[in-house]
Amino acid sequence: MSNRNTFVRRFAAGIAAVAALAAAGCGATTTGGDGEQEAASVEEGFTIGLLLPESKTARYEKFDRPYFEEAVAELCPNCEVSYQNADQDVSKQQSQAEAMLTEGVDVLVLDAVDAEAAGSIVQQAKGQGVPVVAYDRLAQGGVDYYVSFDNKTVGRVQGEALIEGMEKAGTAGDGPIVMINGSPTDPNAADFKAGAHEILDGQVEIGAEYDTADWSPDKAQQQMEQAITSIGADNISGVYSANDGMAAGIIAALKSAGVDEMPPITGQDAELAGIQRIISGDQYMTVYKAIRPEAEVAAAMAVAAATGEEYQGTDEHPLTEATDGAGETVPAVLLEPIAVTAENIEDTVISDGFYTVEEICTDEYADTDLCKGAGA
Ligand code: BGC
Repeated sequence: MSNRNTFVRRFAAGIAAVAALAAAGCGATTTGGDGEQEAASVEEGFTIGLLLPESKTARYEKFDRPYFEEAVAELCPNCEVSYQNADQDVSKQQSQAEAMLTEGVDVLVLDAVDAEAAGSIVQQAKGQGVPVVAYDRLAQGGVDYYVSFDNKTVGRVQGEALIEGMEKAGTAGDGPIVMINGSPTDPNAADFKAGAHEILDGQVEIGAEYDTADWSPDKAQQQMEQAITSIGADNISGVYSANDGMAAGIIAALKSAGVDEMPPITGQDAELAGIQRIISGDQYMTVYKAIRPEAEVAAAMAVAAATGEEYQGTDEHPLTEATDGAGETVPAVLLEPIAVTAENIEDTVISDGFYTVEEICTDEYADTDLCKGAGA
């Protein structure tokens, strides 16, 4: 369906929000930034560039993009979203951003492949008077706003769950754990890693630890193979995996080394495949990050920034501050992550409408407790 059609469908719902923004005087002022540009108006609509980093992790195409487009359609029915995915390629993202700026987008919403390199996109946008909202990952260069989750807390939640899982499995203290972190160009990965270390250091022995370029599940699988070779598959008492995509590669490596019963393994993103591995017992936990509010806050920030308004935050999602990798402080909204294990799938991802029981309980999982309980 085209953006336009989505907008028409959403038009009624958007009217109240538009009226509120119009009453607040949107469209009457000029944008911030270093360049000169007339502020866009919600009545006339404008173009929002959305740049997402990769497509191997399911969230971006399945949730971030559609939720963002829906949120924009509600807030600004006459706006267009111009979308590009960089497929983990730094220079591809740079060209996508340049093309959008040349085409004349009014605001960029940027989830950077490489937060430091993205500083030049931010500078270029600012030079043209185009505001930038950093989405999920904090690009350097002095963005106007940032929305994400509390990423250190994500790491802490993963570390705590790993220890809990090892205690429950009775493997705590039996052997070392393996840590497989995310991409070194993603500042979130550094936060997840730091948060996890806060909990794990001194509590468990870390037998091997890797950073994984591009968050690649294939590379995570190779790293796990290396760890198995040096530690021995049966001696590994738990695995810290920074996200669900990599957990898939890690589990594949353990299975091909002959391990039937997985040690506790963490994840993140509440991917459908991750939730299914949790109910079948292959993965111990994931982190549910409610992407809808993240996308909605990003859309509200983008509309405010493009129309020369100040985004104020809401009672539910108040503005705070975050500091980028170059030491610059930016206004931010940071949402709370939630740990998901077999025990609370129903109270989290299902009750939130992230997945239906039918989506989770495909034939392969019909014998699991969750699916039997649901009568699916
Ligand atoms: C996101 C995670 C995602 C990872 C890989 C991180 O910046 O916060 O949700 O799993 O990137 O794309």
